Amino acid sequence: MTESRRKILITSALPYANGPIHLGHLVEYIQTDIWARFQRARGHEAIYVCADDAHGTPIMLKARAEGIEPEALIARVRTEHEADFAEFLVGFDHYHSTHSEENRYCATFIYKALKAGGHIAVRTIQQAYDPEAGLFLPDRFIKGTCPKCGATDQYGDSCEACGATYSPMDLQDAISAISGARPVARDSEHYFFQLADFETFLRDWTGSGRLQSAIRNKLNEWFEAGLADWDISRDAPYFGFEIPDAPGKFFYVWLDAPVGYMASFKAYAEKEGLDFDAWWGAGSETEMYHFIGKDIAYFHTLFWPAMLHGAGFRTPTAVFCHGFLTVNGQKMSKSRGTFIRARDFLDHLNPEALRYYFAAKLGAGVDDIDLSLDDFVQRVNSDLVGKVVNIASRCAGFLTKGFDGTLSPRLPRPELHQQFVVAGETIARSYEGREYSQAMRQIMALADQANQYIDEARPWVLAKDPERAEEVQAICTQGLDLFRILIIYLAPVLPRLAAQAGRFLSREDLAWVAREEPLIGGTIRPYEALMTRIEPAAVAALLEASRESLAPTDAGPAGTAATAATPADTAASAARGSGSQADAAASGTSAGARQPVMDPIADTIDYETFARLDLRVARIAAAEYVEGADKLLRLTLDLGGEPRQVFAGIRSAYAPEDLAGRLTVMVANLAPRKMRFGVSEGMVLAAGPGGKDIFLLAPDEGAVPGMRVK
Ligand code: 2FM
Ligand code: ZN
Repeated sequence: MTESRRKILITSALPYANGPIHLGHLVEYIQTDIWARFQRARGHEAIYVCADDAHGTPIMLKARAEGIEPEALIARVRTEHEADFAEFLVGFDHYHSTHSEENRYCATFIYKALKAGGHIAVRTIQQAYDPEAGLFLPDRFIKGTCPKCGATDQYGDSCEACGATYSPMDLQDAISAISGARPVARDSEHYFFQLADFETFLRDWTGSGRLQSAIRNKLNEWFEAGLADWDISRDAPYFGFEIPDAPGKFFYVWLDAPVGYMASFKAYAEKEGLDFDAWWGAGSETEMYHFIGKDIAYFHTLFWPAMLHGAGFRTPTAVFCHGFLTVNGQKMSKSRGTFIRARDFLDHLNPEALRYYFAAKLGAGVDDIDLSLDDFVQRVNSDLVGKVVNIASRCAGFLTKGFDGTLSPRLPRPELHQQFVVAGETIARSYEGREYSQAMRQIMALADQANQYIDEARPWVLAKDPERAEEVQAICTQGLDLFRILIIYLAPVLPRLAAQAGRFLSREDLAWVAREEPLIGGTIRPYEALMTRIEPAAVAALLEASRESLAPTDAGPAGTAATAATPADTAASAARGSGSQADAAASGTSAGARQPVMDPIADTIDYETFARLDLRVARIAAAEYVEGADKLLRLTLDLGGEPRQVFAGIRSAYAPEDLAGRLTVMVANLAPRKMRFGVSEGMVLAAGPGGKDIFLLAPDEGAVPGMRVK
């Protein structure tokens, strides 16, 4: 069966350039990468692009808090993101940034076309303004008392206690989360995209099989509610692109974010000499798919196609939404250690294990998926190590020892080979339809069959009889042939393992059709373990490390109020977003499209709470490395006679010998905390963004241990 070569452009949502990649994000990048690799294996031209989402108020404020320019922040984060993706084998053809000339060009082009088409309105609106910080406040940067139920400490757009949504100006006792000042109402001119101009187009576009049914239903609700104008401008100061002919006005981050798909492709096309218009022009015959989390469907199924259509471009072939990630059945939690960063995972476990587990759980729908850690260990060990890799290790030894690695010139059971080949069509349909869990079940059923074949053929019994040597060689050859077919089926999920297996078999072509050619007559290389079992201890260490790296204590960067920008512990942030773009709510959209958020700075505390902190001068009597913890030092602190043990996350910046004898400041009345390495009885204070840049606070000369810090 031959299918003509398709041209497919594939994207994943752009991660915000102000926080690390975590497992919630990885669901999507892994899902998309598997699909792109599958399409390439089938012989299609699949181009997978992405970029960092680099604009907006939270990024501007985070850079300010770190005392650096936003450009420096986004450059650093981009390097970290790209390293994480590479190690998780997420193989973009191109990775770009929304803060790029290509994106400025595309966003400006689209805006001008929409304006020329009469789809941009300008009007003055009243918004909350922080007179001290000198900026308009995004809803999520305002806190106060809910006007409906009276719950305190609620955000400016909705109440977590009663679910009410409201305008930030209606909040009682509102304060700015940036300065603590009372916001004032201030007029400003804003630019709006008139979404309703595109209602007929959108109803038609969304009705034609491009969306999953759950998303289509949601869209119908949005149509019923009416398509409101979308506020696409923000006032200076703002980190983004200035709107043409509108000095001091900037494109809202969500206007130029999806344009980042186009910009990333444009940069790639220029590098590779591709025809941009053939892919993006109206009437393009190429396919284009966006993989996103269900929380950002509004942007991708209404604003984005309308913008493209209005500006004369092609629209997406389909938008594929996925659900959120839970860990052990609950939203990711910092205190439980289940808010797991990509980097911490890589420090402890094999990234392909996670790729396989996500594949085994993912379907085509928008249901949430759960990473149950016990199930993860069990599943990877039993399927990949126990079933798949086991076939190779069972067969290889006989061939290497008895036959110098030479394969038999024939398969004893050619019909079994054929059956495995035919199964590839069903498996391909599952991959194509993003039913990966189904594909994994189909592949594992074949792996069971391959093992059963070897069990029944019993090469280890025949090997005792020199007269039956050829039979042993043939059985093991057949085993490896079946193994190779399984590897080709698993290659989109396990690209590194598949490449290793290809080298071992001296057959490196992993294209889907390559499975048809039986593995006979060549020579294999000596077998080396392709994958090892996951030890539950490694998972425990990962949870501990996650707790450590996100704990607000242990000094380190999170210990400084000015930089306490850590991902919010919310279900939404566990989904896929960085959970840190507080400015991301689409004004004028339904609450359903509101974005995951976090505080850009620490919440304020009242004076009484502050007064309860017992801050003391401490002398570091001893400092030592902690075995098994790569971030911690164990400090013995002298508080004027009273010794305290504190585990501080400052190892990246200090060696123990730098510290002994120095004075510092500690929180002396922090409740003792049991850690894996012992009890921590307080916290030392430090400033800085982390890594080598952690600076332990030191009192001036004259201070003595035990002295109270006022
Ligand atoms: O929700 C988020 O994390 C956004 N940064 C996604 C942007 S996707 C696209 F539109 F750029
Ligand atoms: Zn309320």
